[in-house]
Amino acid sequence: MLQSTAFAWLALATASVAQFGIKHSQYETSPPVYPSPNITGAGGWEEALEKARAFVAQLSLEEKADMVTGTPGPCVGNIAPIPRLNFTGLCLQDGPLAIRQAVYASVFPAGLSAAASWDRDLVHQRGVFMGEEFKGKGAHVALGPVVGPLGRSPFGGRNWEGFSPDSYLSGTLVEETVIGMQSAGVQACTKHYIGNEQEIQRNPTTVDGTTVEAISSNIDDKTMHETYLWPFANALHGGSASIMCSYNRINGSYGCQNSKTLNGLLKDELGFQGYVMSDWGATHVGVAAIEAGLDMDMPGGIAFTSASPSYFGENITIAVNNGSLSIERVDDMILRIMTPYYHLGQDAGYPSVDRSTQPLGFFPLANYVHQFTLGPLVDVRDEHAKLIRELGAAGTVLLKNMNNTLPLKEPMNIGVFGNDAADFTQGQYTLSLSNGLSSGNYDIGTLAVGGGSGTGRFTYVVPPLDAIKARGQSYGALVQYMTDNYAISNSGLSSLAPTPPDVCIIFLKSWASEGDDRATLIAEWNSTVVVENAAAVCPNTVVVLHGAAPNVLPWKDNANVTAILAAHMPGQETGNSIVDILWGDMNPSGKLPYTIANQESDYAKNLVNSTELAESTDPLAWQADFTEGNIIDYKEFDAQNKSVAYEFGFGLSYTTFELSDLQVHVSAANSTRTPSTTAKIIPGGNEELWQVLATVSATVKNTGTVDGATVPQLYLSFPSEAGDDTVRNLRGFDKVSLGVGETASVEFSLMRRDLSYWDTAAQAWRLPSSAIGVDVGFSSRDLKLNGQITV
Ligand SMILES: *[C@@H]1O[C@H](CO)[C@@H](O)[C@H](O)[C@H]1NC(C)=O
Ligand SMILES: *[C@@H]1O[C@H](CO)[C@@H](O)[C@H](O)[C@H]1NC(C)=O
Ligand SMILES: *[C@@H]1O[C@H](CO)[C@@H](O)[C@H](O)[C@H]1NC(C)=O
Ligand SMILES: *[C@@H]1O[C@H](CO)[C@@H](O)[C@H](O)[C@H]1NC(C)=O
Ligand SMILES: *[C@@H]1O[C@H](CO)[C@@H](O)[C@H](O)[C@H]1NC(C)=O
Ligand SMILES: *[C@@H]1O[C@H](CO)[C@@H](O)[C@H](O)[C@H]1NC(C)=O
Ligand SMILES: *[C@@H]1O[C@H](CO)[C@@H](O)[C@H](O)[C@H]1NC(C)=O
Ligand SMILES: *[C@@H]1O[C@H](CO)[C@@H](O)[C@H](O)[C@H]1NC(C)=O
Ligand SMILES: *[C@@H]1O[C@H](CO)[C@@H](O)[C@H](O)[C@H]1NC(C)=O
Ligand SMILES: *[C@@H]1O[C@H](CO)[C@@H](O)[C@H](O)[C@H]1NC(C)=O
Ligand SMILES: *[C@@H]1O[C@H](CO)[C@@H](O)[C@H](O)[C@H]1NC(C)=O
Repeated sequence: MLQSTAFAWLALATASVAQFGIKHSQYETSPPVYPSPNITGAGGWEEALEKARAFVAQLSLEEKADMVTGTPGPCVGNIAPIPRLNFTGLCLQDGPLAIRQAVYASVFPAGLSAAASWDRDLVHQRGVFMGEEFKGKGAHVALGPVVGPLGRSPFGGRNWEGFSPDSYLSGTLVEETVIGMQSAGVQACTKHYIGNEQEIQRNPTTVDGTTVEAISSNIDDKTMHETYLWPFANALHGGSASIMCSYNRINGSYGCQNSKTLNGLLKDELGFQGYVMSDWGATHVGVAAIEAGLDMDMPGGIAFTSASPSYFGENITIAVNNGSLSIERVDDMILRIMTPYYHLGQDAGYPSVDRSTQPLGFFPLANYVHQFTLGPLVDVRDEHAKLIRELGAAGTVLLKNMNNTLPLKEPMNIGVFGNDAADFTQGQYTLSLSNGLSSGNYDIGTLAVGGGSGTGRFTYVVPPLDAIKARGQSYGALVQYMTDNYAISNSGLSSLAPTPPDVCIIFLKSWASEGDDRATLIAEWNSTVVVENAAAVCPNTVVVLHGAAPNVLPWKDNANVTAILAAHMPGQETGNSIVDILWGDMNPSGKLPYTIANQESDYAKNLVNSTELAESTDPLAWQADFTEGNIIDYKEFDAQNKSVAYEFGFGLSYTTFELSDLQVHVSAANSTRTPSTTAKIIPGGNEELWQVLATVSATVKNTGTVDGATVPQLYLSFPSEAGDDTVRNLRGFDKVSLGVGETASVEFSLMRRDLSYWDTAAQAWRLPSSAIGVDVGFSSRDLKLNGQITV
């Protein structure tokens, strides 16, 4: 019964895939690409490569095996020291928004908030400060940033760790982040490569004694290049030292042993010079993974919480000695690991590992096989709170503002409601997988970042309620509050007096954590009832959403809901960030980095999940066919001309702006249609792809009554020769701050890659021969300026 259901499902998937031209007999296959390319040092790492060669030349075979295999130690990932060579080992730490388990360290806004700011400078600065904190705590490698998941499914449980489902926005911001982090001397590890778009069945399971393999993301070549690989190319262009391969399979082959994605796309086509490390426990084989391009096995053991045997480690020694693995390949693995180490000057004295950063219980001391030196506890926060507060506010999107209810004008009776307004009630590290917290039981307490390995331990948090109390008290206001959603759901605001408050601010939260996908896009904990009960009493109700996104907003048209703010995951200064927006100290300038649909069912769910699959003993039951190709998020709604609640790129301000004077300038006319095949391959691909061929400019003016910032956005529509995705594609944006009445010129540089589509037959980026549509505006659906460009 279950089996036949599974097969019926597969037959359906096969049929729908056929129309997109994917060869899909029953399951995808990934073409073999061997051998693994050697490092060349291209792109500025030549000198560091020579130092790495001198280092490798001194290693014994056993030391070589150690250099590519994790070992129990004080960090979440550890490479053993070699005291003989003054090499103190490598310390790898989670994660993308904080040095996860450390105290006296900052918890920064999540990637989602960074993306909603659309602010290259703030995102760059966030990278610099995170890099400084990792280095200060003795971590050589930061396990972030994230561009996989990209956000194919709005339900994806880890989307918030990355930036946006738009590959251009994600690509731009990941590059800034990598450059920022590495400028502080820490190695970035961009992850998870690739197609890691859902949490459910990301790893193999055992059903009735049968191993059922992890989900396979079956992605055609065009979609791979134009959507999922795109931001990874930016990360490499920014110099990412490392790439983490993912748990899932791609076209049937595991992410850490897929020679097409690792040898082919990453190291050959994109010219990657650094090393590929496995996600924790994502290595399923030894020599075969190495030949396919995997360079480092993390955390080393097969059972990854202890000092268990490894597919690498001693097995490498055995494989080299018995002739099944060449020593040259092992040397290349180490050169790839040590070149960025020298390039970033990590050999020139590095802080020792702060003893407070140890992942408690992860590696019991008894399991250590190597001696690690621990340093004292250090406070690495510096003045980073200022940027965190600013970016938290900059990543807040004003969606609705009826009758200019915001900014607040010193209301004397303020109501604050909702479980997200309150301080933590279950500790400052409540968001980890290990203590089993979930949307079901993490009730009262603000949600400032998500859960799992991408979380952070809060040295402090400023909860929204505390910040509002402080602000209200500064001018003598009454602040009335209820933070128990159960009480609000069952008794409304009956405890209030006097009522109604001048303004009622409701804080809702949407849970998301590594390890599971989101079951709903409506904020949990009875949020709809909470809003309706408050709005029934308060004709001036402001709703603030924290946590995962996108959400759908069933109460958005309630006439008493006068303002809505998508405040995302602002990190430790969350309360101050929202107060700055509510009282107008910061004029909101965040824009949605995703689409908010009218209702949940308007989205393509793009998530494979069912009871039948969960119970299936077919080892290959879990198949995710990316049949929608590039058409995700706003492209999906635009392709179908479907109305939305709030479109990609949208966000209100307390002032108004106007755009005028579109200019299109082709700087390199009549370029060859594809880049020269003899041009240099630099990290990020053929160097000609990164050359500017055209610029588009426009004039923006602040026409309102207060200073503010906005984000002019450039969208390109490719002619039909580019394939079935002739919808608009973001290809430029710029955050501009303008005083009242001020104007500025914005200029968007278009590189060859921006103007090209992926030609699968030629295996190259191709400039279209006919005109490309050019639209500039303030969102993906507010496009005042229109033109064309022919390159
Ligand atoms: C996956 O299969 C599709 C269809 O055959 C192909 O276009 C694509 O290049 C393959 N990708 C990988 C990584 O194997
Ligand atoms: C890598 O370099 C080694 C020599 O160090 C050579 O034997 C091997 O063929 C090279 N591999 C590739 C793919 O070029
Ligand atoms: C290790 O460091 C010591 C002290 O700085 C130095 O004398 C020695 O030459 C170094 N050894 C190597 C192999 O670099
Ligand atoms: C080598 O790998 C195998 C799995 O293929 C594992 O069972 C074995 O214990 C490993 N050996 C060592 C010495 O780590
Ligand atoms: C060589 O060693 C590797 C690792 O233990 C093993 O997987 C492989 O089967 C061995 N090959 C031969 C020919 O003994
Ligand atoms: C908003 O303004 C409209 C029109 O001016 C008015 O009808 C409505 O009552 C106002 N709503 C609130 C909540 O002030
Ligand atoms: C949710 O709201 C309903 C009223 O609509 C109430 O009966 C129920 O107790 C609430 N549940 C929780 C968990 O707050
Ligand atoms: C996945 O499916 C299972 C079984 O139907 C269900 O219990 C679970 O809630 C689903 N998960 C999500 C995230 O939809
Ligand atoms: C809006 O507020 C008014 C005044 O408090 C109330 O009479 C009305 O029922 C409210 N509307 C909704 C939809 O809750
Ligand atoms: C899209 O919808 C708008 C408004 O509903 C309509 O005017 C337009 O013709 C539609 N375009 C297409 C391509 O269906
Ligand atoms: C464009 O380039 C082609 C081939 O290089 C050349 O024949 C043609 O004259 C050029 N056209 C213009 C307008 O420059």
